[in-house]
Amino acid sequence: MTKAAPEALTSRKLSVRIAGLTLHAPTMLAAGVVGITTHLLHRALDSGAGAVVTKSIGLQPRESYRNPTVVGVECGYLNAIGLGNPGVEAFSEQLKKLDRGLPIIMSLFGSGPDDFSRMIPILKNTPVKGFELNLSCPHVKGVGVEVGQDPEMVSKVVSLVKRGVKKPVFVKVSPNVDSVVEIAKAAESAGADGITAINTLRAMTIDIETKRPVLSNKFGGLSGSAIRPVAVRCVYEISTSVRIPVIGCGGVSKWSDAVEMLLAGASAVQVGTGLATQGYSVFSGINEGILRYLDEHGFESVEQIVGLSHSF
Ligand SMILES: Cc1cc2nc3c(=O)[nH]c(=O)nc-3n(C[C@H](O)[C@H](O)[C@H](O)COP(=O)(O)O)c2cc1C
Repeated sequence: MTKAAPEALTSRKLSVRIAGLTLHAPTMLAAGVVGITTHLLHRALDSGAGAVVTKSIGLQPRESYRNPTVVGVECGYLNAIGLGNPGVEAFSEQLKKLDRGLPIIMSLFGSGPDDFSRMIPILKNTPVKGFELNLSCPHVKGVGVEVGQDPEMVSKVVSLVKRGVKKPVFVKVSPNVDSVVEIAKAAESAGADGITAINTLRAMTIDIETKRPVLSNKFGGLSGSAIRPVAVRCVYEISTSVRIPVIGCGGVSKWSDAVEMLLAGASAVQVGTGLATQGYSVFSGINEGILRYLDEHGFESVEQIVGLSHSF
């Protein structure tokens, strides 16, 4: 069981409803940053997160790339972990040990519609409340953004997944595409219940002494405050183009970043790198700051500020 949340975190004002899910607060743990350890998902929830997204899991077990897989850069991190994971069968066994009431969103990756639809039945008796399809990882061949850059493929994946599941399905999009709006629209038309924007930006860094790329995979994904303005732009563009909710992700590490995302049109925010830099108190800090902002500006709920910037 999760511990009782501090008073500020249980305020009715912070509660949001997204695609049929009620979250006690609009902050979520972003996919992958705590790896595959399920007790860390618990810890994020105990620390005030309204929901948690798991590491992206695939049909088969997969080794991570060799080190270095994560490196700090100015204003963020570069990572190319390679979607290492134990496979959906093994991970679902871990999830089955968790409290069934927990707000857990399962992140899935695959190389095409069949991979995704084969994983859904395996997750049947787990506490998973919804799915986030990772169609946006920038550094693994044949999956992620290589699937998610083609609107037709996005449409096929989403339609097939939706056919097999009643739970909400979110599509996580990449900024590394020609038009993120086109991808979001394709997902919406195929029945997606929400969009998560954004995954990391394809990037690299080189050690000037050794003259070598630092990541073993050479290329990785940039996260953290460096990408926040890109994420805010994507959230704004998508939320003014689709009717389904958008979850903002990218560089949120403090309450004002979260408020900016909400004003841009996000119905909730995910925190990834912010957890690595601030620790688990990042969730309560953001929740408390949002609550203060609502009180100071005379709003009764988070929903009242979602997309307010659109009117200018
Ligand atoms: C170490 C690390 C691992 C990640 N693993 C995943 C993953 O498995 N699936 C996924 O969809 N995104 C993954 N991401 C991307 C994050 O979920 C998030 O989209 C991105 O980092 C931007 O948010 P941030 O700036 O708050 O970190 C990962 C990011 C990091 C830093």
